Amino acid sequence: MNASTDVAVTPGSEWWRTAVIYQIYPRSFADASGDGIGDLPGITSRMDDLADLGIDAIWLSPFQKSPQKDAGYDVSDYCDVDPLFGTLDDFDAMLAAAHGRGIRVIVDLVPNHSSDQHEWFQQALAAAPGSRERARYMFRDGKGENGDVPPNNWDSVFGGPAWTRVTETDGTPGQWYLHLFDSSQPDFDWTNEEVREEFRRVLRFWLDRGVDGFRVDVAHGMIKADGLPDYSPDPEAGSMGGEEADVPYWGQEGVHEIYRDWHTLVAEYDGDRALCAEAWLPTPEKTALWVRPDEMHQAFNFAYLETKWDAAALRAVVDDSLAAYGAVGAPSTWVLSNHDVVRHASRLALTAENPQGHGIGPDSPGQPDAVVGLARARAATTLMLALPGSSYLYQGEELGLPEVVHIPGEARQDPTWFRTNGERYGRDGCRVPIPWTADGAAYGFNTTGESWLPQPAEWAQLARSAQQDDPTSTLSLYRAILAARKQHALGAGTLEWVEGFGEDAVAFRNGDVTVVANTGTQPIALPEGSTVLIASGPLEDGALPGDTTVWIAS
Ligand code: BGC
Repeated sequence: MNASTDVAVTPGSEWWRTAVIYQIYPRSFADASGDGIGDLPGITSRMDDLADLGIDAIWLSPFQKSPQKDAGYDVSDYCDVDPLFGTLDDFDAMLAAAHGRGIRVIVDLVPNHSSDQHEWFQQALAAAPGSRERARYMFRDGKGENGDVPPNNWDSVFGGPAWTRVTETDGTPGQWYLHLFDSSQPDFDWTNEEVREEFRRVLRFWLDRGVDGFRVDVAHGMIKADGLPDYSPDPEAGSMGGEEADVPYWGQEGVHEIYRDWHTLVAEYDGDRALCAEAWLPTPEKTALWVRPDEMHQAFNFAYLETKWDAAALRAVVDDSLAAYGAVGAPSTWVLSNHDVVRHASRLALTAENPQGHGIGPDSPGQPDAVVGLARARAATTLMLALPGSSYLYQGEELGLPEVVHIPGEARQDPTWFRTNGERYGRDGCRVPIPWTADGAAYGFNTTGESWLPQPAEWAQLARSAQQDDPTSTLSLYRAILAARKQHALGAGTLEWVEGFGEDAVAFRNGDVTVVANTGTQPIALPEGSTVLIASGPLEDGALPGDTTVWIAS
């Protein structure tokens, strides 16, 4: 045991232990300005809808100043709002609107890399090799006689090499800089104290404004192995490091002292502010290292997200998660969709492998069946939201939105698409602006009809307005689940497996609720006289059909 796991584990009652946190992808949520890209005033205008849904908090993907080469994950000023999304005043108004309705607000922090337009990177380009300016990033000399071979063989997560060569100020070919993502996203050197100090300032800037926490981007990548050794990833593995154990740029021990430092800083503020790690690691055991008592508070449970719709696999990942996070006194989190993965209303019905980040398009193998996908998505969410701990939802899943498969090549925007010459579709399919009204411009996303990614015609019937008063709609299901979850205090409960429903069932008791999910095809008999609290789909003569989950009173 090392020092940090020795700290007494005494789970408390902080809000983030049980919260349902709804991810807003600002460019696709609601567009008040009408330019086709969502914005902060748009979010403010929809705050009542969020309160009505029954979530506890929102997490906003980046809205800070950015050239938008990676949809805002390329930040050029960490302490300002990009004009596309509004102003700092708009941010304050949004925050006040959320807090006024009891909704907490988490913002995205992108510390692994900045935009190449960040002042520091521009200064680094103008400075000489070996300078203080270059030392804030990962500049290295190239190999080979003329230095024209990259310093090592690493590939970018988005495809292509992870190094780009610069031209020095005298016009000669110069050093190379590391970018684990796009060439417009140079990696900071986190062994440099100046970088650490700058991010303390950034954290304080947003904490002083009143945010309730941060979702920390690429929280497993900020420290690279000494000497930057060559490494070739397994082509079958997810591009963020999903399956692999020993990657010289993921999960290095040195990242943990950064989070211990941030933990102390965040703890100076009142209100249980929280840090949530985006760390793609192979197992819950590994990920739990990010949430030891003196580090971050939550980590996304990507092992859960990556689990197929299969009862045995689901039981195993739930067990592993509760054990691994429980051992360090952290809540398990649960998540099925976000802005980087194929939406679960499609993913759970894919019939071919689809590594994380690759996306699906018209030519992808194993195309999902929409009806099966939606049934599984509703069942999977009904299961997830009954688990103890905290859950993350991604905007649009409450409408049952599928992945948009048919986006014309010329409309695609994800750097993955460009950097792989169209070999990987990337993530645009889960980022299409969401439909609010069945008719009207851009389905109520704005009033002008502009949309930065094209919205499919089928989305009229999935619009919020079309689902609002339909008791069988996915929106009504989410609302009912979120209310019942609160009423039965499931987030703070404990899970006890229940036997007797067969191999295809995931069945457990959490407090006074028994949950049964059927991942198979044969109906499962429910106990005689069961009182059904929630059902993800219609029951058949009192039995639970395949791809359906039910909550019954224990
Ligand atoms: C974000 C992605 C982003 C990448 C680089 C992530 O994991 O979620 O959307 O492209 O980091 O910042």
